[in-house]
Amino acid sequence: MNNHNNFENIKAKQKRIKELLKEKNAILLAHNYQRDEIQEIADFQGDSLELSIKANKTDADVIVFCGVRFMAESAAIMNPDKTVILPNENAGCPMVDMITAEDIVNLKADYPDAPVVAYVNTSAECKAVSDICCTSANAVKVVNSLPAKRIIMVPDKNLGSYVQRFTEKEIINWPGYCPPHKRTTPEDIKKLKGKYPGAVFVVHPESTPETIDVADHVSSTSGMYKFVRESAAKYFIIGTERGIIYKMKKENPDKVFISSNRGLICPNMKKTHLDDVINSLENMKNIIKISEDVRIQARKSIENMLTL
Ligand code: 13P
Ligand code: SF4
Repeated sequence: MNNHNNFENIKAKQKRIKELLKEKNAILLAHNYQRDEIQEIADFQGDSLELSIKANKTDADVIVFCGVRFMAESAAIMNPDKTVILPNENAGCPMVDMITAEDIVNLKADYPDAPVVAYVNTSAECKAVSDICCTSANAVKVVNSLPAKRIIMVPDKNLGSYVQRFTEKEIINWPGYCPPHKRTTPEDIKKLKGKYPGAVFVVHPESTPETIDVADHVSSTSGMYKFVRESAAKYFIIGTERGIIYKMKKENPDKVFISSNRGLICPNMKKTHLDDVINSLENMKNIIKISEDVRIQARKSIENMLTL
């Protein structure tokens, strides 16, 4: 298919999605890493925290969650009366699978004085046995809000080590990690800074401590948009999934964005295509289902975070 036909095809599918959203009184939420053509039709785009808040506030009947499963699950946990759709049911997050609810129960038995902070990148079952959730945007705030001296943080060891830099509390870490974020190394940054003198390196806290050590700015994905918008620099090395660069370029046409590593692509975030959105809405399928007892317990952890 030539470029023109391809463009027409995308536009036609986007138009169909808009019609379906209206017909079903649905809202389309998209994470900042989604494909460009999905970002273009989102009613709301954001990081995990913003998306949780938005999902909690909408009066739509249906939430179409273009992201990965744990994000759609959070929306379903908070909105039992709404239908939450994950357009591609295989869009997961490997970090989520690095810990089970049983692992958390065992950790609690080992450290009975330590509350459990679960990164939102966890299953509903894990959230149900945790005390409070956090996202990359509020992890330091969540940990420092807790009265305990020791805190269990699961499952991301890199986020845990990052938080440890900003708290006197002892963080008990779990060895989970994000495979795409792990790929950026300090050597990548050294090379890129050599090639683009004066470039500012912006990184996500899921990166390794060595890479965070050489960062100029660390934040959640939406925090990065704000930072690059407000910065006077021209060149930015972006240390997170490259889907984020689409909106950065749109918002800052005079600035230049360079991905910190060619492998910084999350295959799961790229699984959702326009066709998946159309199919799931037309057939009302790939609806997130969570057992009521798990949902009620998990909701407490998310609510504890949101009330902060
Ligand atoms: P944000 O909450 O910063 O958008 O991050 C979500 C995520 O999965 C990062 O890999
Ligand atoms: Fe999971 Fe990493 Fe993909 Fe985020 S970028 S969804 S943490 S694998």
